[in-house]
Amino acid sequence: MEKNIALLPGDGIGPEVMKEAVKVLDAAAKKFKFKINYKKADVGGCAIDNHGTALPDSTLEVCEKSDAILFGSVGGPKWESLPPAEQPERAALLPLRKHFALYCNLRPARVFKSLAAASPLKPEIVKDGFDILCVRELTGGIYFGEPKGREGEGSQEKAYDTLVYSRFEIDRIARKAFEAARIRRGIVTSVDKANVLFSMVLWREVVMEVAKEYPDVTLNHIYVDNATMQLVKDPHQFDVLLCGNMFGDIISDECAMITGSMGLLASASLNEDNFGLYEPAGGTAPDIAGKGIANPIAQILSAAMMLKYSLDQVEAADAIVQAVSSVLDRGIYTADLTGDAASAVGTAEMGDAIAALLA
Ligand code: NAD
Ligand code: IPM
Ligand code: MN
Repeated sequence: MEKNIALLPGDGIGPEVMKEAVKVLDAAAKKFKFKINYKKADVGGCAIDNHGTALPDSTLEVCEKSDAILFGSVGGPKWESLPPAEQPERAALLPLRKHFALYCNLRPARVFKSLAAASPLKPEIVKDGFDILCVRELTGGIYFGEPKGREGEGSQEKAYDTLVYSRFEIDRIARKAFEAARIRRGIVTSVDKANVLFSMVLWREVVMEVAKEYPDVTLNHIYVDNATMQLVKDPHQFDVLLCGNMFGDIISDECAMITGSMGLLASASLNEDNFGLYEPAGGTAPDIAGKGIANPIAQILSAAMMLKYSLDQVEAADAIVQAVSSVLDRGIYTADLTGDAASAVGTAEMGDAIAALLA
């Protein structure tokens, strides 16, 4: 097998962790005998600097000609004072998601046994581990709803976003959640705010209708405020969390942190044809960028998800997850995972250790 991957490292820690993901992908390719051709392109702040726009046509073209997109992260203080519409997140990442209709965002949050101590939760809460899949709707909701804008004198008086969901959008993401639950523990918890928002009343109704086609899956509903609380109280109760765009954004950061670090949460953003963009759920981490200490695991696990969902290399994907787990079992931690900074390894050492185990 030979596949073409668009490599979009982006800004901040993006290029640092991407380097390690490529290292691990190369080790996997060697072991499992497939070939990946990488085509690197600028996106985000670095693309603004080099091309004057966050998502140059040349980058979009590289993505269109590829079998999958491996994305780092974009944004940072350098570009925060640009007009909102030109900023990297709004002008690159959201349009990429929309352009490729990547409506299904999968964010798996699993506690690796050896990492129980890294979780900010009490040991008795994490001792039995937990394994949550956050299924987030990614191309609708308040992120994209119209109208959206500002009004009044000098556009200074009022600003608004619109939370809108159509039946079709809710139906298709709900199906993804139920399909996923079927091959997991069989529980979907739909996160909404149906006690306040009309869009969320429809959300709940449509999810209940879809559930009728999946009698083998248990459906629970939870209000988002309660969900954030239950996640820290008893994360084990959850299997698949089904969320709209904004609630999924918030809940997935919480899921990441309770597994030990923001640097652990991988994600896959898929369209109807299983074309995907794969990226860590976290951002460019400006506070640690350039120091060589970022955790590359979220990027590496995102690459593993790419092998599984877009490149049909399930065995190689599983081997990467196994290698990550073994490295952590051996007590090899980046600074975010250990209180003992002196014993922490850097980004490159973590990548080396995972690649070595894989080989
Ligand atoms: P962030 O996720 O970048 O950082 C939050 C905290 O998590 C920081 O303390 C950071 O050091 C830590 N962290 C994140 N990833 C880590 C890793 N791999 N290893 C170790 N620690 C890690 O969130 P933020 O500070 O709110 O955002 C910074 C910038 O990134 C903003 O411009 C934001 O818009 C952007 N962002 C981009 C993406 C993306 O491109 N997908 C996602 C989220 C945020
Ligand atoms: C994420 C990020 C993005 C989002 C931002 C950077 C646009 O926070 O992927 O979680 O809100 O979706
Ligand atoms: Mn986010």
